[in-house]
Amino acid sequence: MQIQDPHSYASPEQGTINHIDFCLSVDFAARTIQVAAHYHLDRQITGSFFLDTRSVEIERIHTDGIDVAWEQDRSDPILGERLHLQGLDRVADFTIELTTAADATALQWLTAEQTAGGQHPFLYSQCQALHARSIFPCQDTPSVRFTYTAEVEVPVPLVALMAAAAVARSSEGQVNRYRFEMAQPIPSYLFALAAGDIAFRELGPRCGIYAEPEVLEAAAWEFGENEAKLREAEEILGPYVWDRYDLLIMPPSFPYGGMENPRLTFLSPVFIVGDRSMTDIVTHELAHAWTGNLVTNATWEDFWLNEGWTTYAEGRITEVLEGRATHQLLAAVGRSRMLEAMRNFGVHSEKTCLKYSQQGIDPDLVISSIPYQKGCSFLVQLEQSVGREAFDDFIQVYISTHRFQSLTTEAFVAFLERELPKAAERADINEWLFAPGFPEDAPVISSSLVDDVEARVTAYESGALPAKDQVSSWTADQAFLFLRRLPERIPVEDCGYLESLFEFTDSRNWTLLSAFYPLCIRSGYHDVLPGVERLVGTVGRNLILERIFRSMVEAEWARGLARPMFERYRERRHPITVARIEDILAKARL
Ligand code: BES
Ligand code: ZN
Repeated sequence: MQIQDPHSYASPEQGTINHIDFCLSVDFAARTIQVAAHYHLDRQITGSFFLDTRSVEIERIHTDGIDVAWEQDRSDPILGERLHLQGLDRVADFTIELTTAADATALQWLTAEQTAGGQHPFLYSQCQALHARSIFPCQDTPSVRFTYTAEVEVPVPLVALMAAAAVARSSEGQVNRYRFEMAQPIPSYLFALAAGDIAFRELGPRCGIYAEPEVLEAAAWEFGENEAKLREAEEILGPYVWDRYDLLIMPPSFPYGGMENPRLTFLSPVFIVGDRSMTDIVTHELAHAWTGNLVTNATWEDFWLNEGWTTYAEGRITEVLEGRATHQLLAAVGRSRMLEAMRNFGVHSEKTCLKYSQQGIDPDLVISSIPYQKGCSFLVQLEQSVGREAFDDFIQVYISTHRFQSLTTEAFVAFLERELPKAAERADINEWLFAPGFPEDAPVISSSLVDDVEARVTAYESGALPAKDQVSSWTADQAFLFLRRLPERIPVEDCGYLESLFEFTDSRNWTLLSAFYPLCIRSGYHDVLPGVERLVGTVGRNLILERIFRSMVEAEWARGLARPMFERYRERRHPITVARIEDILAKARL
């Protein structure tokens, strides 16, 4: 079945890209990449072929040395420009030579000052959702997969990395040259590249860490349990097909917590906190190796298939490694975030549906916990209706049937009806997938760790602040949940009390602080302002910054400070982050 992806100009029925051989030359001075890409198609094409691009400078398109006629004949702020290859006569491969734009949306170029080491510049890509097209023309839809090779040139002494196998490396004069191979077919959004002063540390037979030398040691300790996670994930999800699982610790401006680039997860440094308390992010990105990278959403309208399944798998892995109470605690935190997202959109908004039309919508601007948590709750509901044993069998069949394929929500429903008819009958599938809000009969979350938090919240509501010994054994997630369950506004003295109770004055756990500061801002506790400023200057993760700025625009005293504070750090932030914070400021007419 052919799928028309609303976020792509490509018409895969014309034929699809099977393989690309890249030559990439990275120019830090010009902030461009020189690209020569040789495309191999799955058939010979006569007539037209459409590709997605965004602001690339195309120099030449040729096949067997003969020029191909082309034009960029459509343009749209979200989709970019359609590249139309014309007058093809039984063409099954062609080459495109181009230069990326200095403001290519997939690429972030950092100056030396913006890195941990301060000596060398850094480049990284972030292609999900619609950004691969700003590096190379492609059928930029997750429903098309291709393998690739790449020769990459970076200036000495920088290291180049890709989400692919490094198979050769050489130096020549001022150039370091690498060769990468991606033997497993990937959708374009999983193409990834980084270059900088990067060192490596082995963690185990299949796992390692790449990071700037300054952060390598701390990162290697923090994520030292990855190998065990990988083994556990295989128990639940089946064999790992990507050979290696490495992490690359990103510079602070990285806009996401993590990005599941195959073989090489890109990870925000906010999770390096010194006590391994924030490593569930790795469980999540690792689980994507199956749910997302192996079995992929057909379009971004089916995003919940990637993220809901991954959140479900993350929970299952956590349950084995850390116990059911911890798994349920994480689920409670996730649900509280989801309910917050639903309130932000409005509970009747179609953006709270798992599937709705995203025509005219930029997927980057509507990401929220909803596809993650509502999607996961739906799967838990299915699991509970047939029991875990039957559902575990279903997981294995689901993955093995769709490996290296993409599917729509509708195809998932058809598969569920065929393979697990009892679950399909017992759940209100239409309500879960196509209706707004959160179903009333959703699975209940219960955990002694959550109960403990709830007890302290109830006590607070009747006037008793928690004592030190009541919270000293709490995990970071419990503290996070507690802060989010407190009333919207509390007396400023209580803010000060909690600040010293949880030792927040010296804390660098930005995730926890991103729950504490908004509470203080809403409550009018001005003393946190320097801390808020430090966070905004240090952290690049969208989720954290959004939480801070949302609370600032809502609080009368802080409203006027939001725009100037953002402007002070705007230059360091990723364009996606800038767009999301601008959206919050614009809606508040700031
Ligand atoms: N693939 C996503 C990040 C993403 C989504 C990037 C959509 C671009 C568009 C990644 O797996 C993810 O979900 N990251 C989360 C962390 C997770 C633990 C909830 C994030 O970055 O917040
Ligand atoms: Zn994810």
